[in-house]
Order: sequence, then C-alpha cells, then structure tokens
Amino acid sequence: MTLKITPITPALGAEISGVDLSAPLSNADFDAVHDALVTHSLLVFRDQDLSPKAQVEFSRRFGPLMIHVLKEALIEDQPEIYKVSNLTEDGKPKGRAYAGQYWHSDLTYEPRPSLGSVLYGVQVPECGGDTLFASTANAYETLSPAMQEFLDGLTAEHHFAHAFRGGSNPAARKGDPLDERPPVNHPIVRTHPESGRKCLFVNEGFTVKINELSASESTNLLAFLCDHMSRPQTVLRHRWQNGDAVLWDNRALVHRAVDDYGDNSPRHMHRTTIEDLAEY
Ligand code: SIN
Repeated sequence: MTLKITPITPALGAEISGVDLSAPLSNADFDAVHDALVTHSLLVFRDQDLSPKAQVEFSRRFGPLMIHVLKEALIEDQPEIYKVSNLTEDGKPKGRAYAGQYWHSDLTYEPRPSLGSVLYGVQVPECGGDTLFASTANAYETLSPAMQEFLDGLTAEHHFAHAFRGGSNPAARKGDPLDERPPVNHPIVRTHPESGRKCLFVNEGFTVKINELSASESTNLLAFLCDHMSRPQTVLRHRWQNGDAVLWDNRALVHRAVDDYGDNSPRHMHRTTIEDLAEY
C-alpha cells in the first residue's frame, strides 16, 4: 500500500492513508509520517485496529512516553495508555470522563511538556464528541509584529489545578487531586525545534498567569491570546469514527474536546502522550 497524505485545512491537519499502525512501520514510512507531522501538526489515520501495545510501540518511535498524573485512568498493565471514557464497569469509571473540555496542550503543567499525543477512538458517539484543534504557529504568525515583539521573552505559570477551578463542567472536576503537581514556568513563545516556526505556548486550561505582567494585564492578554488562537481559520474540527487514530503535535497546537454528548452515547478512547526532550 502506498502512503498518501491529503491536507485537511490550510493551517493544520492531514489525513494519511496506506498506513497500518498495528504493525511496526518501516523506517521510510516512519520518516514520511514524522515529516508530515512537522508540516501539518496533526495526522488522521482511519480504520486502524490498534491494541494498547501497538499504540505504545508506534508512539514510542517519537520519544519517551509520559505517565498521566491521574493514575485511576490508566490501563493497569499498560500505564502509558490514559483512558478517556464515559463508560463504567461495576459502577466504577473505566477512564477519565469528559476530559479536556477546555483549550489546552497536553501536560503543559509538567516541567517537560509533551511533544505530541496519539488518541485512538475505540468506541465513539454516532454524533457528537468531536475534538477541536487549533494551530498555535498560525496564531503567532498572524499577530502584528509589535505584539510578537512584546510577547517574545515573556514567561507564564502553568498548573494542573487551574483547569479545575472555575471550569464549566462540574462533573469533570469531581475528585481531582488539585495540588498533585506544583506550578511550573514556560516561555509564552517557543520556537518549534523541528519546523523552526514560532508558536504561542499558553492555553486556557493550565496557564495561570503571565509572570512579568500585572494581574489584570495578564488576565486580559491571556484572554486575547486564547481567543486569537481559536479563530475559525486556525481551527480543525475532527469528527471521530471508530478506529480513528489521531496523532498531533502539542508543540504547535492546542485542542479541546466538545461536550455535546451524554452518558447514553458511549465514548471510549486511548491516549498516549510523548515527552518533549527539547530545551526552550
Ligand atoms: C484530550 O484532551 O486529550 C482529550 C480530547 C478528547 O477527548 O477529545
């Protein structure tokens, strides 16, 4: 089968056909997938049949995998897999229900955030439960030169607990270990180590404040940047089918899940999260 790459929007995303992720990729195919990720920031692989082990092996080709802080949502003998799920078994949640319903890049509350993630749709709603992705490279590039210059060199505080304070979905906040991770600081503009593009690195979920600004300056600037990052020209909406595997670049995108389905529409997904070893 020949690998084919079809762009989805001008700003981000491509669908890749001719790849079976359940078996190890040849070096040539892996290089083509890797290059496509750097170019398009998000890749959709349809009709995959991906065991947790195969997902872990594919993801590991990009770098070491991160173990999520919410231990109860991990697969017991494959802890690299974080389950996003609204299913229950014997009255207990099978994974993290209604996760990530705010714009974020994965694990920016860690000292070393993530390079990318793979989310595999095991069982998805017939309608609803889409995921939105937005290009933070495009967002930076469409700011005025004066604003770009102002932002370069600023830093922001990120904290896991932030996503659960004042969020809009009380169900998502239940039982969160609010102070499990101490706050960390990151530059608010980062140069992508592979594409060389500058990307905004703040998000609604985990960014608490811009350190060098007053409280109200920080709140207003963060609101502006988050708004700017989610303009329609910068956003791709992924409508899930069972068997989709979506690989995205957390260095160049933010994403959020859409809460428009309910407990009667099962949604069960497996996520792996790749660590970013680059220094910024
Ligand atoms: C996530 O934030 O990784 C979950 C996204 C989703 O469930 O659509």
